[in-house]
Amino acid sequence: MRIVITGTPGTGKTKVAEELADILGIQFISIRKIVEKEKIFEVKGREKVVDIKLLEKILKKTLRNERNYVIEGHLACETKLPCDYIFVLRTHPKELKRRLSGRKYSAAKTRENLLSEMLDYCVQRTSEVYRKKPIEIDTTGKTVGATAGRIAKMIRNKKKKGDKVDYSKELLGYLRLTG
Ligand SMILES: Nc1ncnc2c1ncn2[C@@H]1O[C@H](COP(=O)(O)OP(=O)(O)OP(=O)(O)O)[C@@H](O)[C@H]1O
Ligand SMILES: [Mg+2]
Repeated sequence: MRIVITGTPGTGKTKVAEELADILGIQFISIRKIVEKEKIFEVKGREKVVDIKLLEKILKKTLRNERNYVIEGHLACETKLPCDYIFVLRTHPKELKRRLSGRKYSAAKTRENLLSEMLDYCVQRTSEVYRKKPIEIDTTGKTVGATAGRIAKMIRNKKKKGDKVDYSKELLGYLRLTG
């Protein structure tokens, strides 16, 4: 089983993917670890800008002979990876803001991530890149264990119906505040 998990930073991809891989007894792959190990980024100010074309090449090679994995990263929505299932984790902006507040992010980076969640960026991008709709999983108010368990059950039962989130009200409020 080849599973891709993507989503905005802070939605819980790493934690959920690790636990899911444990439940299913298959390998866990972190895109961030590969980026660091292969040094496929350029430092621009406080940001690390990843070379997506090179990442794609390396990931395709890494995954070529693998039949079972859970691979996770927000960049998974930018490059088409071989998969049987693709999930986008979602988190209500209020909860996401709380989760991100514990990180050493600049105010601008936190804003960018919240905006990207409100605009469904990862869902739109996945749909474009993979040419199929991903399964959205709302993690708001849930534990990591509950989310991983739910995904495992969906896979076992071959269910492909996830959640539909709508953060447009939050987006309007946000634009009023900043506009
Ligand atoms: N239901 C949930 N599912 C996943 N993570 C959750 C959940 N509830 C709370 N969290 C917490 O959210 C935080 C962010 O999780 P994690 O680091 O896995 O996010 P990420 O999506 O991998 O972020 P990044 O893209 O920056 O790597 C963790 O502290 C995690 O415990
Ligand atoms: Mg992570």
